[in-house]
Amino acid sequence: MTKTPLIIDCDPGVDDAVALLLAFGAREALDILAITTVAGNVAADLTARNARLIRQIAGREDVPVYVGASAPLVRPPIIASHFHGESGLGTLPVFEPDAPVAPGEAAQAIVDIVMNRPAGTVSMAVTGPMTNLALALQREPALAARLGPVIVMGGARREGGNITASAEYNIHADPHAADLVFRSGVKTVVLGLDATHQVRATPDRVAAVKAIDTPAAKAVAQLFDFAVWTEQTHVGGDSPPQHDPCTILYLLAPQHFTAAPVDLQVETQSALTMGHTAVEFRLADPAAATCRWVTDVDHEAVFAVMLEILA
Ligand code: RIB
Ligand code: CA
Repeated sequence: MTKTPLIIDCDPGVDDAVALLLAFGAREALDILAITTVAGNVAADLTARNARLIRQIAGREDVPVYVGASAPLVRPPIIASHFHGESGLGTLPVFEPDAPVAPGEAAQAIVDIVMNRPAGTVSMAVTGPMTNLALALQREPALAARLGPVIVMGGARREGGNITASAEYNIHADPHAADLVFRSGVKTVVLGLDATHQVRATPDRVAAVKAIDTPAAKAVAQLFDFAVWTEQTHVGGDSPPQHDPCTILYLLAPQHFTAAPVDLQVETQSALTMGHTAVEFRLADPAAATCRWVTDVDHEAVFAVMLEILA
């Protein structure tokens, strides 16, 4: 199997951390070129520390971590520590990781990595506010045509919003960045809440992870326990959706995801609906669409892939 060259842009964050552990574990399938971090769930210094911490648990200090934007393009930062804990990693024991961040900043690292490789060969998973990718596209517009698919966790249509009535957090936190990315024409596959709400850490799946005796599975089990607590506390129910892991699981097993070509536009004017994703399926020329929206997920199959990697 040829490995997929991949940049992961994230704001760890409990579910970002699960996504990273899956990606680091999928050594045969993914060639992780870089992790870039951004302010989001918690501040930029913490998301960078958390990416390094998860990297150390996974034993993957071979992968560089680049620190990215500490604030959205236009709006003030909106953190979500109520969902991720003060550290950003729930109750996972926090320590100062051994290996430092890589020199240079995230947006430039994205430009350098993609522009120095053949067009269409580098994919990207974006699991936080899209600030770093927007900055990279502003710096080097040719990126839009060279970057392989960008797998985005963000947006919502059928499910409504999770941070406001009509907006999902990643897009709401930096709507101007999202707007720039989707207008750039870069190829995207978008896993909104319509998709990620189908992929939940149910009690039997949490138990299955707890039965696996590997460092990654033990960390995921602890992250799941915290996610269950926040779901029970803030939303209701005992099965937290696995938003960010869906981007990695899509890259590993796209056959379990159903997507359709859409025109996706982002609200950047109205305070009431800021960050809303208007997802239009009725296209004059579906073949011309650069965005594909995931509508259905075979969640049983996807969790089987997750367990296989953690083992
Ligand atoms: O809406 C879910 C997204 O917001 C996830 O990426 C989660 O980590 C939070 O950032
Ligand atoms: Ca995230």
